[in-house]
Amino acid sequence: MTDIDSLNSLEADVLAQVAGASDEAALEAVRVGALGKKGSVSEKLKTLGAMSPDERKTFGPALNALRDRVASALADKKAALADAALEARLASERLDVSLPVREGGLETGRIHPVSQVMDELTAIFSAMGFSVAEGPDIETDELNFTALNFPVGHPAREMHDTFFLPEKADGERLLLRTHTSPVQVRTMRSTQPPIRVICPGRTYRFDMDQTHTPMFHQVEGLVIDKEAHLGHLRWVLEEFLKTFFEVPSVELRFRPSFFPFTEPSMEVDVRCRKLPNEVRIGEGDDWLEILGCGMVHPNVLRNCGVDPDVYQGFAWGMGIDRIAMLKYGMPDLRDLFSADARWLSHYGFRPLDFPTLAGGLSS
Ligand code: DAH
Repeated sequence: MTDIDSLNSLEADVLAQVAGASDEAALEAVRVGALGKKGSVSEKLKTLGAMSPDERKTFGPALNALRDRVASALADKKAALADAALEARLASERLDVSLPVREGGLETGRIHPVSQVMDELTAIFSAMGFSVAEGPDIETDELNFTALNFPVGHPAREMHDTFFLPEKADGERLLLRTHTSPVQVRTMRSTQPPIRVICPGRTYRFDMDQTHTPMFHQVEGLVIDKEAHLGHLRWVLEEFLKTFFEVPSVELRFRPSFFPFTEPSMEVDVRCRKLPNEVRIGEGDDWLEILGCGMVHPNVLRNCGVDPDVYQGFAWGMGIDRIAMLKYGMPDLRDLFSADARWLSHYGFRPLDFPTLAGGLSS
């Protein structure tokens, strides 16, 4: 039997369920339970068919109105739930655009000044027609000393404070190269002259104080041709130093010296001004020793299979760390190898600012 009271209580019940639905899935279950094929409201509507015309006159409009109120309550609740879901999502995905941007590797990473200077050297010397040659850090005694005209037992070997590796079964003792000069030998033995190479790389000596570290970097230069002479060497060094230190002119002073692998041998000083916290290259009344050089000794040419009656050449060797310190005002050599990220972020270079002669070496 249908009566108005039972309709009222059905409506109150369904509307309470609608109000209590906490998400869209629960609301859909309420809708199916009321208006679905076998829903409570639909079942009531089905009873209209069996009613007398009088009853239908009363209950028809009442039931239809009930169904409409339930449908509109469902629609309102559905809209309210969708709004609430959107609000929750907006709140959870909220971005504070005033926060600072977290930088990625390309912005925070830095090129070490020694790598930067190696790139600068490469840019300068390749513009002069030099190529880059490399050799291993672990060398044989023959390449590091003997082929370079250091006789066995010669005191010049002692001056190198060599790190030797443990003796091998056949008695050979490998070593950490004490200079980049063995790359000269490797290059002459593997390349036909004319030769123009620079050889940058790591070198090792048993030494440690404010101006020495057990590992350091050198760049070697080698030119072998039929008429290469000291005038060429002087020009190459002047051009290099001017370009590297980004000054209009430099003045060099050549002093006689001794290296077993060159004859004559010289040390080169560059005119500078020594100020309390900086050294200015290309001006002033002071001199700073900057490299060793000379004409490649005929014995070295012979040891490398180059005929000294046909070919001659010059070579030089220079400390990379020292010219990096001079150019970029880094006061203590040891800082270069202390792996301190704060130091590197101050003295390092941005990764994409690659040095070129046209675009600027250090800017
Ligand atoms: N090998 C020398 C050193 O480590 C530097 C040097 C001097 C290299 C004169 C040369 C040169 O090629 O000609 O002290």
